[in-house]
Amino acid sequence: MSNLNKILHNKISCKSLWFMRQAGRYLPEFREIRSKNQNFINLCLNSELSSEITLQPIKRFDLDSAIIFSDILMVPYALGQEVNFIKNEGPVLGNLNMNNILKVNKESFSKKLSPVYRAIDITRKKLPKEKSLISFIGAPWTLLVYMLGIKKADNNLNLKKLNIKDLKLGDLINKLVKILNIHIQNQVDAGADVVQIFDSWAGLIPSANIQDLCYSPNAKIVEFCKKKKISNICFPKGIKLKYKEFNNFVKPDGINIDYEIDPQWAKNNLTDVVIQGGLDPKALLKPEDEMIEVATKYIKTFQNTPYVFNLGHGLLPETDPDKLTTLIKFYRNY
Ligand code: CP3
Repeated sequence: MSNLNKILHNKISCKSLWFMRQAGRYLPEFREIRSKNQNFINLCLNSELSSEITLQPIKRFDLDSAIIFSDILMVPYALGQEVNFIKNEGPVLGNLNMNNILKVNKESFSKKLSPVYRAIDITRKKLPKEKSLISFIGAPWTLLVYMLGIKKADNNLNLKKLNIKDLKLGDLINKLVKILNIHIQNQVDAGADVVQIFDSWAGLIPSANIQDLCYSPNAKIVEFCKKKKISNICFPKGIKLKYKEFNNFVKPDGINIDYEIDPQWAKNNLTDVVIQGGLDPKALLKPEDEMIEVATKYIKTFQNTPYVFNLGHGLLPETDPDKLTTLIKFYRNY
C-alpha cells in the first residue's frame, strides 16, 4: 500500500509528498514536449507522452505520488463538445448540445478516453510499487462552468446561462455524475489508486445553490468511491467557512484546503477527514526564508495528525523548480 493510501485509508500519520500541477509549465522538460505539441487535447490523448510527462516530476524530485497528466476538460471532450485551449486565454468550449450529451453511453465515452486509460496503465507499470498513481476528475459544477461558459472574465457569473430555456440543469448534473463515476472506475481499473475531485470554481456558487450544485453532486461521487473502496480527496476551492458544511455532508476520505483557509481553523473544524494541502503556491515565488516560514506553519499545525503536505492550488508556471527542491528537502528533513 502506498503512503498516500496509508494516510487516507488507515489514517496512519506518515509523509507522502506530491503537488498539484506537479507536471506542468514550470518544468523545462514539460515545456520542451509542449512546444512540439501545440494541440493540448492531442497531447493528453498521446498515451506515451502523457505517461512521460506524468513521470517527469517523479524523476526530478522523487515524489511519493504521480498524478496522471490529463485534464478535467477531457470529459466534455469525450461527451462530444468542442474543447480548445487558447494561448494566454485558457480553455474555450463550443456550444453545448444537451440532446447529444444525454445520448452518450458508457461504451462510446470510455472508447474516446481509452488513450488516457492506456497512459495510466503504462505509467503504473513504470512507477515503483510503493508510489501512488492519482487520477482526477472535475466536479460537475466546475465542468459546467466551462461547458456553459458561465464564468465572465472578472470571475462573476453569467447566471443567465444557467436559465437557458430548454436546459434541464438537474438532468445535466445527474448525467455528469454518472459519466464521472464511469471515468473514475475506468481510471482505477487502469491502475490508479486514488482520485482527486476538483471543484475549482465552487467558490462562485451563490449560497442558495451550493447544496444542489456542489455538496450533492460531490456527495454522490464520494458515495460511489466508498462503495467501490476507492480513496478519494475533494477540493471545493474557495468556499471559505462552508468547508465545514461540505465536509460534514460529503464525508470524503481526504479534503484539500485552499490558501484562504486558516490551517488551525481547518484542524479544529474539519473532522473525520484527512486534510491535504493549503500552502499558497505564491509562497514559492517569495524569498526562501519566507517560503519556509509559511510552510512551517502548515507542518507544525498538522504535526500530530494524518496530513498530506501539498498546496492550496496548483503550482504556478513561473515557479522555479529549484525552489520546489528546497521546499521538498525542508519538508523531508523536518
Ligand atoms: O500535474 C497535474 O496536476 C496533472 C495534470 C492536470 C492538468 N490540469 C494539466 C494541465 C490537472 C490535475 C488539471 C486539472 C484542471 N484543469 C483543473 C482543476 C485544477 C485547477 O487548477 O483548478 C482545471 C480548472 C482545469 C482546466 C484547465 N486546463 C485550465 C483553466 C487550463 C489553462 C490554464 C491553466 O490553469 O493552466 C488548462 C490547461 C492545462 N491543464 C495545462 C496543464 C499542464 C497547461 C497547458 C499549457 O498551456 O501548456
